[in-house]
Amino acid sequence: MSKRWYQENKRDPWRRDAKAKGYRARSAYKLKQIQEKFGIIRRGDAVLDIGCHPGGWTQVAIEEAGEGGLVVGVDLLATSPIEGAIVMVGDITEESTIEEISNHLGDRKLNAVISDISPRLTGRYDTDQAISLELSTMALDVASDLLSPGGCFITKVFQGAGIEGLVDAAKLRFSVVGRYSPTASRTASSETYLICQKRLQMTNGGGTAMEDVQRHLASIGIVVDEEDEKDPETKVGFRKIPKRE
Ligand SMILES: C[S@@+](CC[C@H](N)C(=O)[O-])C[C@H]1O[C@@H](n2cnc3c(N)ncnc32)[C@H](O)[C@@H]1O
Repeated sequence: MSKRWYQENKRDPWRRDAKAKGYRARSAYKLKQIQEKFGIIRRGDAVLDIGCHPGGWTQVAIEEAGEGGLVVGVDLLATSPIEGAIVMVGDITEESTIEEISNHLGDRKLNAVISDISPRLTGRYDTDQAISLELSTMALDVASDLLSPGGCFITKVFQGAGIEGLVDAAKLRFSVVGRYSPTASRTASSETYLICQKRLQMTNGGGTAMEDVQRHLASIGIVVDEEDEKDPETKVGFRKIPKRE
């Protein structure tokens, strides 16, 4: 056992516990804490887990949805099979992925969409935060399209400029919207979770969440770069550039 492994486990009880209980990721405890506080997933629910690899949240979703539940997980990376769930490889920004998810759901409508989606970190906080905001906005659009009225949506997002736009966009689609930082998030972490409950019958104002957030960014003096100027390494991401006078 390496000294580093020992120190990390000693410092991080969530990591230690996750390993002991057979969860694939310590992040399982973040969902458990969210679930305990907000009861997002109910028995028998159909649940979509966006950004599910390696599968910690999917494992918790299966436990919570129980018998009669249906859990579909999707990620860019392949997730090893998890008994009780359908896990697929797919990019949530692609129409073909949404079609495949819908095929798996068949006649069922989703009751909960849980998203721990996160970009591959570049180490430049502004860039990572911008991509996180766009990914979470996309997850909100997917949830808004696929959830049945009354359904719930949660997503991770990095704190920073534009997050208020995401919160406002969520308020046009859900009756109850708030933010929550589980204690299982690392102390120095800048992530938070947007908790949205009770999907409305219809989105107020129409349009997509992406359009709503882009409008918000423009209103706070941030313009979003044209597609062809994006970093080729990252397919998505609001490039936030202060407006020129
Ligand atoms: C923090 S990890 C999720 C951990 C997971 N909740 C667990 O408990 O095991 C975030 C995931 O989001 C995925 N992701 C990022 N962009 C994505 C996209 N466009 N479509 C689908 N998944 C994406 C990443 O591949 C990564 O595996």
